[in-house]
Amino acid sequence: MPSLVVVGSQWGDEGKGKIVDFLANEADVVVRFQGGNNAGHSVKIGERLFALHLVPSGILRPGKTAIIGNGVVVDPGALLKEMNDLESKGVSIKNLRVSDRANVIMPYHRLLDGAEERLREGAKVGTTGRGIGPSYSDKVARLGIRMADLIDENALSEKLEFLVPLKQRMLDAYGDGAKLDLEAIIREYVDYGIKLAEYVTDTGEIVGDSIRRGKKVLFEGAQGTMLDIDHGTYPFVTSSTTVASNAASGSGISPLLLDEVYGVVKAYTTRVGEGPFPTELTDDLGRTIAEKGGEFGTTTGRPRRCGWLDLVVTGYANSLSGLNGIALTKIDVLGGIGDLKVCTHYGIDGKRVLRIPADLKKLEMCEPKYATLKGWDEIDEPEMKRMLSRGFTALPENMKKYVKFVEDQMKVPVVLLGLGRRRNEILDLRKSKWKARRK
Ligand code: GDP
Ligand code: IMO
Ligand code: MG
Repeated sequence: MPSLVVVGSQWGDEGKGKIVDFLANEADVVVRFQGGNNAGHSVKIGERLFALHLVPSGILRPGKTAIIGNGVVVDPGALLKEMNDLESKGVSIKNLRVSDRANVIMPYHRLLDGAEERLREGAKVGTTGRGIGPSYSDKVARLGIRMADLIDENALSEKLEFLVPLKQRMLDAYGDGAKLDLEAIIREYVDYGIKLAEYVTDTGEIVGDSIRRGKKVLFEGAQGTMLDIDHGTYPFVTSSTTVASNAASGSGISPLLLDEVYGVVKAYTTRVGEGPFPTELTDDLGRTIAEKGGEFGTTTGRPRRCGWLDLVVTGYANSLSGLNGIALTKIDVLGGIGDLKVCTHYGIDGKRVLRIPADLKKLEMCEPKYATLKGWDEIDEPEMKRMLSRGFTALPENMKKYVKFVEDQMKVPVVLLGLGRRRNEILDLRKSKWKARRK
């Protein structure tokens, strides 16, 4: 694993945090390259639960360098809170670094996020309300504040003297009653700059040098392929590029330095917020899976919509990110619910559809076509322990068939298999030969 990118292959919340925490054990550097504190990556260590939003999950492994790359949008108040929370739980943040080029989320971004959602009425995106979209919009419009600006009080004041009245006019035009206080915003963000200065640096140089010196670098994706700004179910997406190629530009290195890509695939599908979801289960079964899987948002606490595994979605993720391996998570959740369906393709007017159409109306017309696989019984604690110690061969036969079905359909090996929430409840299949396991 000289350099390895881990991306979400569905609509986010696939279990990336747990997978990155597991792989971070072998890494020297862990980098977030896009998104912001809209992400919620949970890692359970023993009975302790950590929810990471901006800080890479690698921070939980002592001695690793954790980097927030230039492609991330940083809410400095949220970052400082997360850093304090981690420290209060005994996690060292000494090795955290934040890109001086990362754009900053300002109070008016959060207000505009809320105002724009309200104005959309019937067509809400269902954002996390963290100001992500407005912050990325300002970045692209060249109206952003970057981390480097926070360290330079004069430059920051000058920019905000122009930006705050501009944003006030936008808020007024949107009919939002909020009043921005220029002086208070300057004071607040200068203070953030003072507190964060020691962490802010040219992180691209650190990442590139680390790889060239033979260190192992892990890139932690946030959100998922179907939330990608270009490739996802637009406009029901987030505002960043979530696919693997962005690991390079979002962390300031050459794409030639990326070696491998793992796609995290949840054994079923979930989605938070609005937008099409072909395999969604709106019945009791969907609610049962949500309950068994604890499918409530790490960031907003919202219930996640649940449905069957959709291989059109994961195949699309593969075509966009080029997966060398699949980290299949939460397969334990599917135990005890009877037969399992897996969507292999869509049908539209009698024709097979194997790729996600750009037109949402067309996607909504797509009828998921399913293969039915036999289920297995619920797995209790002693049984799971036995499976973890004995490996793939000890899994229930039908679970093995489910894993093999995913591998065969996607033509990508399952390299990690999530069997439970805790850090060690994962089967590492990288060492056992794919062919041997398939017998
Ligand atoms: P992320 O955003 O992709 O990091 O995923 P989240 O952390 O938002 O959501 C995944 C949830 O599933 C978290 O509560 C994890 O603790 C949990 N989880 C991850 N992998 C597994 C697994 O293999 N089995 C079970 N039961 N839970 C898992
Ligand atoms: P992780 O990294 C799941 C969804 C929101 C909304 C849409 C746009 O934990 O997988 P935004 O606030 O980004 O403008 O919201 O994207 N969304 C996520 N859904 N997991 C996430 O992150 C998400 N981050 C954003 O629910 O539908
Ligand atoms: Mg999440």
